[in-house]
Amino acid sequence: LKLVVLISGSGSNLRALLEAAAAAAFPARIVAVGADNDADGLAHAEEFGIPTFVVPPGSFDSREAWGTELVTTIEGWTPDLVVCAGFMRILPPNAVRALSPNLINIHPALLPLFPGAHAVREALSAGVIETGATVHIVDEGVDSGPVITQTVVPIQDGDTEATLHERIKIVERVLIVQTVRDIALTHINLKELART
Ligand code: GRF
Repeated sequence: LKLVVLISGSGSNLRALLEAAAAAAFPARIVAVGADNDADGLAHAEEFGIPTFVVPPGSFDSREAWGTELVTTIEGWTPDLVVCAGFMRILPPNAVRALSPNLINIHPALLPLFPGAHAVREALSAGVIETGATVHIVDEGVDSGPVITQTVVPIQDGDTEATLHERIKIVERVLIVQTVRDIALTHINLKELART
């Protein structure tokens, strides 16, 4: 299975995928890594010799034009699956339609709870005793597509956004690798899931 991974930040989920995909037995390989900015995480791809690209929204006069360019760039690598791993942009509908359901995202909460860019902070302030991580198919909403898999992460007394997010990331790194593996081995059928 050929993957393109999209990031915006530190890329710890990306690194987990790079390390997993470096093993010959892993049923997927990363053909390129893209970002919306000069993300620190691109250094992980460079370390593993994986090509990178940056498509900055600011260079375009509309979200649709940015989306079109991003999709054109992605499709140039002919991936079977696009993985958003800390990609902090909402893809415009034209881009989602071009890529989904072979387009998944990992989110640091138990969707549909706490969608959006402040999931960890919102779980903390909501006073819930547990949160978690979700891998889902990206649809035209915000973190609203069909859930593929989730793992629960307990919230501990004294947790800050940083300590809780780090505990979630430990789980995410395992979850994203396992989910990509299951999709590659066809244990998960995204087209079926997207129809539910
Ligand atoms: C992850 O928690 C992911 O769920 C969220 O952004 C974070 C990205 O972290 N969307 P990293 O860039 O993979 O370290």
